[in-house]
Amino acid sequence: MEVTGKTIWITGASSGIGRELALKFATHQNQIILSARNVEALREVADAVKIAGSEAIVFPVDFSDADRAQETASDHMAKLGRVDMAIHAAGISQKATVQENSLRVYRSVMEINYFGLISVVKTVLPYMLEAGNGSIVAISSVAGKVGSRNRSGYSGSKFAVCGFMDCLRAEVANQGIHCLTVCPGYVKTNIARNALDSAGSPRGTSTPQIEGGMSPAQCAERIYHALRKQKDEVVVSSGVNSWAPLLNRLFPSLLRKVVAGRDM
Ligand SMILES: NC(=O)c1ccc[n+]([C@@H]2O[C@H](COP(=O)([O-])OP(=O)(O)OC[C@H]3O[C@@H](n4cnc5c(N)ncnc54)[C@H](OP(=O)(O)O)[C@@H]3O)[C@@H](O)[C@H]2O)c1
Repeated sequence: MEVTGKTIWITGASSGIGRELALKFATHQNQIILSARNVEALREVADAVKIAGSEAIVFPVDFSDADRAQETASDHMAKLGRVDMAIHAAGISQKATVQENSLRVYRSVMEINYFGLISVVKTVLPYMLEAGNGSIVAISSVAGKVGSRNRSGYSGSKFAVCGFMDCLRAEVANQGIHCLTVCPGYVKTNIARNALDSAGSPRGTSTPQIEGGMSPAQCAERIYHALRKQKDEVVVSSGVNSWAPLLNRLFPSLLRKVVAGRDM
């Protein structure tokens, strides 16, 4: 599939993987709708998209209230009248044990990562079903395939994303709609810095794993490739981390022993 001349809605476009995806698609004469909360950062991305030869629309959305996000987005899409691809890259992480973590943190993470995705899908699906084609991309995580310490809120939301995408694919695959679930490993972005602590505040510091991860540009390139090949699911990672989902399927008890002793 060629990703040219499409209207593409990218959430999480102000930073990291979403931003790099916008820059990647920008080189192929697309119309790109850029969403996140930070309008200034979105405007910078929009300028770069335009310089690369595509059209950019800044469309601020806050997924911490997914119902409201869906209402606003539905109005916006009705004005545009078309969307060929939607990528939900907006997301937030957390780091705390189950015992420490407040229920509020679980809800916040779930709202953005999981209900945010559903709000995006419910916004774009009517247009795609009417057109008989379209692509929906969800950024899950290796943590959506393998659980580890301190990540129950994040991992739970990403497992939910994988499950939701499998169900969606089963419903719409025969109606021309392609659903891609992306499971990145460590990517060097702001994800760990913005991760919530047990009280719901951003931790403010990154981790050695994230700092040693692949670049967001490399990650975007691999997602682009998976889209062109119309893959259903792709693990975008390097090193041992990339084998974790497969090891978890083939040798679950071995993997559980490995993750039990580690802070991933
Ligand atoms: N980096 C990794 O190692 C890694 C690994 C696996 C999966 N992922 C997933 O990849 C996706 C992108 O994350 P990233 O690594 O690129 O991190 P990032 O640099 O922190 O980007 C996160 C994006 O989500 C947006 N966002 C956060 N809260 C939002 C809200 N309430 N409403 C709207 N937008 C919101 C942020 O924009 P604003 O702050 O402007 O709203 C930002 O654009 C996430 O789903 C993440 O879970 C990342």
